[in-house]
Formats: sequence, C-alpha cells, structure tokens
Amino acid sequence: MAIADNDPFAQFKAAQREGWALFVPLEAYTTPAAARLVDFARVQRGERVLDVACGTGVVAVTAARAGAQAKGLDLSPVLLARARWNADTAGVAIEFTEGDVEALPYPDASFDAVLSQYGHMFAPRPDVAVAEMLRVLKPGGRIAFSTWPPELFIGRMFSLVGRYLPPPPGVPPVTLWGDPNVVRERLGDKVVELAFEREAMYVPALSPQHVRESFETTAAPVVRLVQSLKDDPTRLARFRSELEVLIASYTRGNLVRQQYLLSRAIKRP
Ligand SMILES: C[S@@+](CC[C@H](N)C(=O)[O-])C[C@H]1O[C@@H](n2cnc3c(N)ncnc32)[C@H](O)[C@@H]1O
Repeated sequence: MAIADNDPFAQFKAAQREGWALFVPLEAYTTPAAARLVDFARVQRGERVLDVACGTGVVAVTAARAGAQAKGLDLSPVLLARARWNADTAGVAIEFTEGDVEALPYPDASFDAVLSQYGHMFAPRPDVAVAEMLRVLKPGGRIAFSTWPPELFIGRMFSLVGRYLPPPPGVPPVTLWGDPNVVRERLGDKVVELAFEREAMYVPALSPQHVRESFETTAAPVVRLVQSLKDDPTRLARFRSELEVLIASYTRGNLVRQQYLLSRAIKRP
C-alpha cells in the first residue's frame, strides 16, 4: 500500500498495519467474543456477511461456520495469512482482502450484515468508517460491532498509552466507540433500532507483569509505545508501573475481569 508522506491519516494507518502484525496470540481471547457478536448480529445461514478489520478472521470464520457467505478485510497482511489458515483449518471458504475500512473495496449494498470486533474503532476518522460500512450494507441490513468502553480496563489502558504517546491531531480516542451515546451520534439517522448489550471478557493473569508483558508484545498501541520509549528507561518504567497497577485493579482469582460493549442497528430501509 503506497503511503503519502504528508498524509497524517495514511501515516497513522501504516503504523496500525505494522503494529497489529503481532496480534495472533490474542485471538485466543477474541475467539469466544466472535461467537457472541455473530449471535448478537443475528447472522442467518446464507447471508452475505463482512468482517471489517477482521484480524485473524475469528468473526468471519464463526459466521461461515454458521452458514453465512463471509468475507473479511484487514490492513495487516500478516494477520490475513493467519485468517486464511484459520478458514482452511475450519474447512470454510472465505474471501479475505487486504484493505482499509475507510475505503472498502465492495459495491454499495453488497452485504446483509457488516460486523466488526474491536476493529473499525481503530480507523482514524469515525465518520468515514461509518459511511463506508453503511454504504456496503444493504438497506434493512444489520451493522454490529464490539468495542471497548473508555471507563473499563482496556479503555483505561488505551487512555494511559495515549498520555505517553498521544494520537495525531484530528484522531479521536478509539474508546469513544465504547460509549453508547457516541455510537448513537455517529450512526445518526441512517440507522434504526439501535441496541446495546455488555459482555464479559476474562484474560488469564498469573501476575500483573505477565499481562503487561503479553500486551507489550501483541497489542499495537502498547507495542508502539514501548518501542517509542526504548531510549527513555525512566518513562518506560513509570508507564509499566502504572499499567501494572491498572491491571491489578481489575484482577481477581488470576483473571483480569472486564466488559465490552456490543452495538447493533439496522440500516434505514
Ligand atoms: C484488536 S485487532 C481485532 C482483530 C479481530 N477483529 C479480532 O476480533 O480478533 C484490530 C484489527 O484492526 C485492524 N485495523 C486497524 N485499522 C484498520 C483499518 N483502517 N482498516 C482495516 N483494518 C484495520 C488491525 O490490522 C487489526 O487486525
């Protein structure tokens, strides 16, 4: 993908594309959530379903195993290779495409359902991402996604990261997508029957240090921050200590306990 030197959004996406390349181990946690999203989105056998920012394809594979004709799209070629392996292993046929949620390579009204699990929230321009997801959705189709609330663990971890490494000007905090009021405003009058639920996600935690270490080697925002602080050991140590305190405050019985937001709406017929 060609990146214009003077386009801050393109630079941001290039960093996302590189940063998420290490995500594969985290599919262990997004796999159960994928079944929850496919169920919440009411995916039916034979429907055309798009998994936006699919990563290793856990939502697309789950939808395909439920009988849908699934496609997946992501910025990261490394994760798409794993997604293709996941589909082959599960014995389902899925078309995976390298691309950007802000410029989806599909005709208008091509899908019955457009889903995204912790994915489209990382696009730098929410209005552009929403417009594209709704453009490729047929009138009367469902848009559904899972996102991290700003006031809970992952949201607070991203805020902490943002204090050390702020996003470029014009890029809002990703976890605003976890606030139902913001979701309502961003989807606007192009949708009807907006619905929200919350669901739990548990992450094994032998110690706060284990969890911190795991995010430092898999989750793009944390990976990038740690790389950026490699020549500033004092700040790096302070960040690590703050993150461990945050992790500990959500841990009980060797599990980090948190919730995420599920949002669903129907494109206005
Ligand atoms: C937290 S991972 C979630 C992956 C997958 N949906 C899952 O639930 O396992 C975030 C994903 O968003 C993708 N991503 C970020 N920005 C994107 C963009 N502008 N267009 C497409 N994919 C994007 C990343 O490459 C990464 O795979």
